[in-house]
Amino acid sequence: MEGEKPPMDENSLEFKPKIVGFLCNWCSYAGADLAGVSRLQMPTTLRVIRVMCSGSLDPKFPLSALKSGADGVLIMGCHPGDCHYISGNYEAQRKYNILKKLLKFIDLENERLQLEWVSASEGARFQQVVSDFTSKIKKIGPNPIQKKDEKAKKIIGQLDAAIHATEGFRLRSLVGREKKIMELGNAYGEILSREEMEKIEDEIIEDEFIRSNIVLRVERVPKTVEDIALATGFSTETVFKHVARLWKKQIILPHGYKKLSPMYIKAGGA
Ligand code: FES
Repeated sequence: MEGEKPPMDENSLEFKPKIVGFLCNWCSYAGADLAGVSRLQMPTTLRVIRVMCSGSLDPKFPLSALKSGADGVLIMGCHPGDCHYISGNYEAQRKYNILKKLLKFIDLENERLQLEWVSASEGARFQQVVSDFTSKIKKIGPNPIQKKDEKAKKIIGQLDAAIHATEGFRLRSLVGREKKIMELGNAYGEILSREEMEKIEDEIIEDEFIRSNIVLRVERVPKTVEDIALATGFSTETVFKHVARLWKKQIILPHGYKKLSPMYIKAGGA
């Protein structure tokens, strides 16, 4: 998809979005099937990828779809309480919330990603969701990555950092443990309110995004704090703080000097 011109509708010069849809097997995929056999009319903008449950969707895949040039990503699952695997859609909601927060650090419109619940009997709702989301993406316009210019390069770098962050232990355990922490308490037995949990989540997500940016920048070539700050757009103070943390965890290591400034490289790199 990358580098292609935005496709136009066969019968007009209108922009025709490419939307990737991750549909759970038991509800939304069956809802799509019902819409099809019922001959409901809708835009042919959706590329469907069937997953067994919306909760089984790895959060890096929606980001990868955007990185590949998709104009929008729709995640669809069973209505809350109806998941074939009991609570998979609650997990999907938690992953989605994290993805939305990560998207705030990326120069892409947050609305390009959407989560919807569609049951097997809701062919008409499936039609409505696809039509509405297509109209929304048409208004937003093509994914800027398709232009292959400097801005596209910057967004790809941001998406790489977000993908890297979703693969890390902290964000994965956030998805797995959020419900437990809120219902049973944290390691100190404290039950956290929704606001407290949101605040902690925001901090972890921002930290992980910045640290992923740093790790990816020093993956092969050693860089100073100033070099990293210049390349990422974060302040030198912010980079310094996270470099110190990453060094302490031995994720990055000192590797020579540039003038008098120490350079760092990813552990096991170069
Ligand atoms: S099986 Fe549909 S969301 Fe879990």
